[in-house]
Amino acid sequence: MEHRISNSLKILTEADKEACETVRVSENEPVTHKKRLFIESYGCQMNFADSEIVASVMREAGYATTSDVNDADLIFLNTCAIRENAEQKVRNRLVHLNFVKKKKAGALIGILGCMAERLKAQLLEEEQMVDIVAGPDSYRDLPHLVLEAETGQKGVNVFLSREETYADISPIRLNSNGVTALVSIMRGCDNMCSFCVVPFTRGRERSRDPFSIVKEADNLFRNGYREVTLLGQNVDSYKWQNQVKFAQLLEMVAKISPELRVRFSTSHPKDITDEVLYTIKKYDNICKYIHLPAQSGNSRVLDLMNRTYNREWYLERINSIRNILGEDCGISHDMISGFCTETEEEHQDSISLLEYVRFDFGYMFSYSERPGTLAAKKFKDDISAEVKQRRLAEIIEVQQRISLERNQRLIGTVQKVLVEGTSKRSENDFTGRIDQNKKVVFPRENFKKGDYVNVLITECTAATLKGKALVEVEAV
Ligand code: SAH
Ligand code: SF4
Ligand code: F3S
Repeated sequence: MEHRISNSLKILTEADKEACETVRVSENEPVTHKKRLFIESYGCQMNFADSEIVASVMREAGYATTSDVNDADLIFLNTCAIRENAEQKVRNRLVHLNFVKKKKAGALIGILGCMAERLKAQLLEEEQMVDIVAGPDSYRDLPHLVLEAETGQKGVNVFLSREETYADISPIRLNSNGVTALVSIMRGCDNMCSFCVVPFTRGRERSRDPFSIVKEADNLFRNGYREVTLLGQNVDSYKWQNQVKFAQLLEMVAKISPELRVRFSTSHPKDITDEVLYTIKKYDNICKYIHLPAQSGNSRVLDLMNRTYNREWYLERINSIRNILGEDCGISHDMISGFCTETEEEHQDSISLLEYVRFDFGYMFSYSERPGTLAAKKFKDDISAEVKQRRLAEIIEVQQRISLERNQRLIGTVQKVLVEGTSKRSENDFTGRIDQNKKVVFPRENFKKGDYVNVLITECTAATLKGKALVEVEAV
């Protein structure tokens, strides 16, 4: 899930939007930590999970976190490079941070994450106020880079590792709601989709030790958390020493407790197996929700994108999901409009795919050429911005209608909701999600965060369900 940016419109649930807000670190460290760190995160959930690792590394180095940027000795932006405007957003933010830095003598600014990795030292030339540039695999080195920057030298580490998974680092749960948590299970990506910058910014794919994953999830459960989301760019290619594949890992985490919900993201259509689908079916606490990016509904475009599946393959996987997990299984997608050479007919294939599958929701973008990618090298970015936007608007319109219809189907049903917190709109309402990842708002009554509540769904929009609690239930 990426940060919401203007020219890459997505339909987001309210829960997604909340998750996409930049993270501002809360103050909960002991007073012995004299220096203050402010972290702001952009981009996908992996980046948000990484910021929690960064906070942990910096705490060891004596930094407490702060939610007030003006109070910070150290300002980190954990950045995204997926589309051009994701980077523009960071550059705009830096203009403001320059003022902050001028007011506070000695304050340092670090750019972390995918934009740092993509631009490397060039970023220091382009943005003079930046003191530290650190790629996603160099976070253990941050204390050293900060020391270097304190002596007036710029600190740069953009080394990409084949092994680093930060398995032993216990993340500090930033701005946590105390109920749901992100758990990184792998890093990097080996897929080389032609439009995508991720393999260049995050390096080779590697899986994290399953026992450290289970330990982390178990600790979360013992500390009151009731949902973990297992994260990777392509979770279906998770593999540990040829013994544990994703299906087994899912099972290991699901067995921690039937009261711990398990989610995962992102699945790749070429790799998601029936074995994984049957494991999801077997455990009530593995959520019946799959995010299965399509990118296009046309086989020629999918081939140019180097997605390694075609329309028929994608639809066959959807049919398996529906056959094994039922019509109610939540399914969402990612779609790109206006990829190189896409014709109107091919664009219509994307729309007909939406109509056929009837996704619950989608994250939809117009194509943004990224320097260095296979598409940038091989193809011309020949669809005008106007056409890309018009096609995107058409895709969004269809998805909005289908999202509304899929939500309307649930009116009159009772859904089990995990309460995540108070609704942003009203103190008197709670918000939480159902199995299929749809957000529900309902009167809070005497329930509390972390409860599972049976809610009768009474109304909905394309993004949110509304209802009324029936009875509290103990377990999933
Ligand atoms: N690993 C995931 C996707 C991660 S990136 C997968 O394989 O599906 C998240 C989404 O951003 C992608 O699914 C794609 O829809 C979108 N995206 C990636 N690169 C893009 C680009 N250059 N222009 C527009 N959208 C892009
Ligand atoms: Fe990018 Fe493709 Fe890897 Fe997803 S699978 S991160 S779209 S290269
Ligand atoms: Fe962005 Fe990097 Fe994630 S490019 S989408 S933050 S992996």
